[in-house]
Amino acid sequence: MSPFLITRTLPEDATGAALRADVLDGLTRTPKTLPPKWFYDALGSELFEEITALPEYYPTRAEREILAGRAPEIAAATGARTLVELGSGSSEKTGYLLDALPGLRTYVPVDVSGSALAQAGGALAAGRPSLHVHALIADFTGGLTLPATPGPRLVAFLGGTIGNLLPAERAAFLASVRSLLSPGDALLLGTDLVKDESVLVAAYDDAAGVTAAFNKNVLAVVNRELGADFDPDGFDHVARWDPGREWIEMRLRARSALTVKIPALGLAVEFAAGEEMRTEVSAKFREEGVRAELAAAGLGLTHWWTDAGGRFALSLSTVR
Ligand code: AVJ
Repeated sequence: MSPFLITRTLPEDATGAALRADVLDGLTRTPKTLPPKWFYDALGSELFEEITALPEYYPTRAEREILAGRAPEIAAATGARTLVELGSGSSEKTGYLLDALPGLRTYVPVDVSGSALAQAGGALAAGRPSLHVHALIADFTGGLTLPATPGPRLVAFLGGTIGNLLPAERAAFLASVRSLLSPGDALLLGTDLVKDESVLVAAYDDAAGVTAAFNKNVLAVVNRELGADFDPDGFDHVARWDPGREWIEMRLRARSALTVKIPALGLAVEFAAGEEMRTEVSAKFREEGVRAELAAAGLGLTHWWTDAGGRFALSLSTVR
């Protein structure tokens, strides 16, 4: 058995309190919003896994292609002895990195979901008896304290999830990542790239309707956790490309005028017929933009790799 440790830095009720605050804030503003982090209960995580296998949803395959081809270069450039993976989720692509890093001693998966960590961290540890796995139940957008592990450290944030943060949130997030790094450490960042609108919209509005079900699942989460009475069939799934801000927006559009009660908040929320509520922003990037955002956080981009189709990029950056 390899050493496998889980540390919780989130209070047990932090999730419930954060959900109440987000729903209260988001549903009382104009236009209404709900943050995308609430998609990922057990069903939502399963639906996302289904999305990654859809013919229209290319990011997961494109990133896997890059990792499979470039893991040896990443290993050579970083010499990492500790791999920290933010938002590790199912850790599906992590094996490429773990297997390519010859000096790797410790793997630190970080996620808000303890069950995802136990499952994925346990599976990765099982096949690698000499690897120390120190899983961290934490919200990486809220400032992290990492366990004392051997350097150099490689912090990986894969999947293009950074695109779910708004520009100001991204700047704060990158600055907090920078504060975790010492000279010699590195950040490996996955970013989906700007491309043809039809390709982008199809990736977020698939023919089989899996993304629509994923989007509406956030309503089921609010119903279950806060006693709300959202009727998911009362809403349509919308995916739109914003060419000015270069992001995909997912929304839920009320099919008719309706009122939703949210007992845990003592709140009744009215939707007009056709009113749209934003549930996710998924920003798409260009190399120069990524370089500039990293630089603003004190990080210097050293490597930029894309898949053969030029759809997705992995970048490596170091403390300047
Ligand atoms: C997991 C955040 C990278 O933004 O593409 C997939 C989530 N949303 N389909 C993304 C998602 C709709 C996904 N990330």
